[in-house]
Amino acid sequence: MRQMVFTGGPNKISRGRIFKKHFDQRIKLKNIDVSTQLWPPEFDGLRIGHISDFHLGDLMPIDRALAAVQMLGSQSPDIVVCTGDVIDLDVQGAEPLFEAMANIKSPLGTMLVLGNHDELDCAVTVSSMATDAGIILLRDTRCTINHCGSKLHIAGIGWAKSQKKCSAKVDRVCNEETHLLLSHNPKAFRAAAKHNVALTLSGHTHGGQLAFPNKPGANLAVGHRHSNGVYDIEHSRLFVTAGVGAWFPLRINCPAEVAVLNVQSA
Ligand SMILES: [Fe+2]
Repeated sequence: MRQMVFTGGPNKISRGRIFKKHFDQRIKLKNIDVSTQLWPPEFDGLRIGHISDFHLGDLMPIDRALAAVQMLGSQSPDIVVCTGDVIDLDVQGAEPLFEAMANIKSPLGTMLVLGNHDELDCAVTVSSMATDAGIILLRDTRCTINHCGSKLHIAGIGWAKSQKKCSAKVDRVCNEETHLLLSHNPKAFRAAAKHNVALTLSGHTHGGQLAFPNKPGANLAVGHRHSNGVYDIEHSRLFVTAGVGAWFPLRINCPAEVAVLNVQSA
């Protein structure tokens, strides 16, 4: 229904002009500096390549998705994370996208959490495509990366809609050692901050897609207190990306983006 009302229908009426305008909008590279005393000094200056919300489908053809991954790969991040909604309605044909994310030569690998759209079609198929490609999938679990004798503790939760459900998942997978949390829904942040998680990375909101000029937080994602950019709760940090894809073919003052975060211990 959403696809017909906001995407396919209007595009047909405009004889393809809406899609053309949408595809003419370039995906931008955003560089973000984040610092917090909760971040382990051994990983000072870690560069995290963050990509989210492809919504592979009508509004995100595979070539555009692969170009976004290439843009991220060209920044040579130390680790790649994708915070979900890789697909929109149908997982068919998504293999090259998972393979491209896995093939970015980041020394600490590529990690993924699922979004609500990944679960709409078939979470099992999305999961196996990702893991077959070599991506580490974090579904309500955590892992530890050992690098040059130091440990980075990373947790990831699958899709949860409400803050209460997000918190329950965070309470299960995070502890005082967790440095990095991946959650499609930024509503996980409050619980993450209670566990002193240094950095949470999220997507889902698309930055509202329509925002006031120079006020990225004043946008259409009205159900989200944290919808675009960096947020603090005491020493915990959250970054919510506006994502690379779209629910409907319009973005105003809210460009699609891939992000590279440079994380420092304050
Ligand atoms: Fe989402």
